[in-house]
Amino acid sequence: MKEKNYLINNRLFDSYLERMNFLNEVSIDYPGAISFGSGRPDKHFFNVQGIISCFHDFAASEGRSEQETAEFYDSLGQYNKTKGIINDSIAKLLQNDENIKIDPEDIILTDGAQEGMAVIINTLFENREDVLLVSDPSYIGFVGYAKIYGVPIFPVKREKDCIDLEHLDASIRQLKKAGKNPKVLYEVGDFHNPTGAYMPLEKREALIELAEKHNFLIVEDNPYGYFIYDTQKIPTLKALDRYQRVIYLGSFSKTIFPSIRLGYIAADQEIKHRGRKIKLVEEFKKTKSFTTVNTSTLLQAMAGSYLHKQDYSLVKPCEKKIAALRQKRDTMIGVLADRFGDTGPYAGKVSWNKPAGGFFLVIDLPFKVTEDHLRRCVEDYSVIFCPMSFFCLNEEAGINRIRLAFSNLSPDKIEQGMEKLSAFIKAH
Ligand SMILES: Cc1ncc(COP(=O)(O)O)c(C=O)c1O
Repeated sequence: MKEKNYLINNRLFDSYLERMNFLNEVSIDYPGAISFGSGRPDKHFFNVQGIISCFHDFAASEGRSEQETAEFYDSLGQYNKTKGIINDSIAKLLQNDENIKIDPEDIILTDGAQEGMAVIINTLFENREDVLLVSDPSYIGFVGYAKIYGVPIFPVKREKDCIDLEHLDASIRQLKKAGKNPKVLYEVGDFHNPTGAYMPLEKREALIELAEKHNFLIVEDNPYGYFIYDTQKIPTLKALDRYQRVIYLGSFSKTIFPSIRLGYIAADQEIKHRGRKIKLVEEFKKTKSFTTVNTSTLLQAMAGSYLHKQDYSLVKPCEKKIAALRQKRDTMIGVLADRFGDTGPYAGKVSWNKPAGGFFLVIDLPFKVTEDHLRRCVEDYSVIFCPMSFFCLNEEAGINRIRLAFSNLSPDKIEQGMEKLSAFIKAH
């Protein structure tokens, strides 16, 4: 038989993409291990039945006769608008919870934020000169897709609380000098995955000014913004955006549940193309019509009826989740303080952050963390963590650090897992 070596996109073998497979495989090989590896939300807060019954209530209400209710259900079976059917509800939600004013026509519903990322990348990148800027480390979902699609990516250093703006400025100048076009910056300002950082207000403002100065777009991905534990809410980049530089990506995976697979892009940009003014969202729509045609009408209707019931705000329904997540974070930090705190022999050698929100905590270790360490930690201590280098384009950027997700385990399990992880750290 002839060798079929031409069938696969070679970029899939990029070592960056292989790392996540490795983590998944470890989780599958050791199902009994306590996993701080993945930032899944806690299933105890999913309330799937509640959403379904809210949907049925909505279908039967609104003064509909029995016949009209039946027609309402039937209408959900058909293909539907590519941009979505609950755009009005999303616009109200963004206005109420984020103070983002956006025309419903500038919103496009997607199959999770992940599809939004693919739509944005496919729509905006064509030339080899167009460069995607990302802070290093960054969320692997966006960077991974860009890699598969072959987008040139430039990693920018991170400071403790966000992207290093000076390095960003210098990198853009350097790229332009080399004939490149730094076109889009991807950032998670609210409780960044993987570092947990909350970008300060003045740096948000400075970033938007930089985008205006250097003529690039910012993709603001915000799945964790609701989950604030002990700090004041900071406006999103989109809420601060005076220049229409920010494309906003939303997700219901953490506020409702992930299987609803609903996200959205809010993009009010008008761009010039061959002398014509066009709406960016209409180009996203074109791309989406050739990928998923439209986002499930049924799932949109479910989310829409839930939003209707909650008066188009998710602040209140997230309160219980926030309290539980805060407790989980504090449990994790409690064990770390106990094992590696100020007065003990490890003081100053092992340090960690106290994320003000989100799902992730980062530990700085006095040794380089490799895949081999992860394997040994699972085999000998039954605990899974995520080496920070897995999220880094420049692997050295995260070589002494690990990311722990505290979202999906009970406080008891977190305590048990952290005791074991502490023993692993001490042994190394
Ligand atoms: C930063 C970030 N963006 C997006 C997503 C995925 O969102 P969705 O489930 O809506 O595709 C995640 C999920 O972990 C994430 O951490």
